[in-house]
Amino acid sequence: MNLKSRLAALAVALAAAGGAWAADPLKIGLLVPMSGPFAAYGKQIQHGVDLYLAAHGGMVGGRKAEIVLKDDSPGTAGDVSKRLAQELVVKDKVDILAGFGLTPSAFAVAPIATQAQKPMVVMNAATSSITTKSPNIVRVSMTLPQNSAPIAAWAAKNGIQKVFILIADYGPGYDAGGQFKKTFTAAGGQIVGEVKVPVTNPDYGPFLQRIKDAKPDAVFNFLPPGAGTVAFLKGFNERGLAQDGIKLIAPGDLTEEDIIDAIGDSALGLVTSFHYAESHQSPENAAFTAAYAKAYPKDRPNFMAVGGYDGMQLIDLALTKTGGNAEADKFIAAAKGLKWTSPRGPITIDPNTRDVVQTIYIRKVEKLDGKLQNVEFDSFANFADPGKE
Ligand code: PHB
Repeated sequence: MNLKSRLAALAVALAAAGGAWAADPLKIGLLVPMSGPFAAYGKQIQHGVDLYLAAHGGMVGGRKAEIVLKDDSPGTAGDVSKRLAQELVVKDKVDILAGFGLTPSAFAVAPIATQAQKPMVVMNAATSSITTKSPNIVRVSMTLPQNSAPIAAWAAKNGIQKVFILIADYGPGYDAGGQFKKTFTAAGGQIVGEVKVPVTNPDYGPFLQRIKDAKPDAVFNFLPPGAGTVAFLKGFNERGLAQDGIKLIAPGDLTEEDIIDAIGDSALGLVTSFHYAESHQSPENAAFTAAYAKAYPKDRPNFMAVGGYDGMQLIDLALTKTGGNAEADKFIAAAKGLKWTSPRGPITIDPNTRDVVQTIYIRKVEKLDGKLQNVEFDSFANFADPGKE
């Protein structure tokens, strides 16, 4: 071999060992709403992303991570998310698309992930079918059927027979209501009414009156957390539904830690099912919540912050397997079957669906050290998304 061919052979060997990738920073396009009604989603996801990077010297899979943040507020306008994702790919030349606070954003960007052959890491958006919209999608957050089936089973076992369903009029609402109905009626429960409300700024008054008149044992609800959740609970109490003995059950989006203080003490006693609670007892969560409190003393960590943190954890673990290669086919193959211990508990990426399998906890709102907290008291381990069945 002459010198030239020896150097060429060396370059091939280095590339195979990951050396060729390690030199370049890894560009991650983070697409989240940072303003408008769902600004808290972007804030929390970004907190999680930054905490992971701070704890790992800014490196993922041996490469320096460079975050390119784009605000796709309101997060519900697919055309806005799509345009910004195109910019991330074409102008910013990102290696990976990540973030996605709400379902319309993830739906709109899925075809871009396919066309541009970029991995797409979903850190929050939770309509079940999102992962089916591109082979390049992997999700670390949750799905609404995954978080709605357990509360339906719990309700049926705990004396609730007649339920009225109130859901936001878009994918996650349909998924939550549909799965609740399926699990609850299979267990002998009855659905006595169903309403869909606008995703932003609904006037809950007329809906609450209809529910009051139907006299159910409980209302099952899903609303994307925010000011609407606080308004809904205020109306629920002011119109006397709680006083009538009507219970409220829901996936844990209802009492998540970013909004629970705004809801206030009327949240006490609410039972929900969810994959993450700030009060979760584990060494991983103790470390996560301590780092969060130090970095963001004015905020409380919620499931979206954990989604951002675990999204980075997934990227780190997948790139470690590929030697830093972020090409979609290599990255997705490496992501399939990954397992790690999240602040929420043990999680796995299902190799068939690229969706997250995790423990879903049943929790009750209590005051711990003067703070409203979701306290876990029962759990469904290794729970896969029933929406894929
Ligand atoms: C969604 O739009 O997919 C979504 C938003 C907020 C949630 C869950 C899902 O809490």
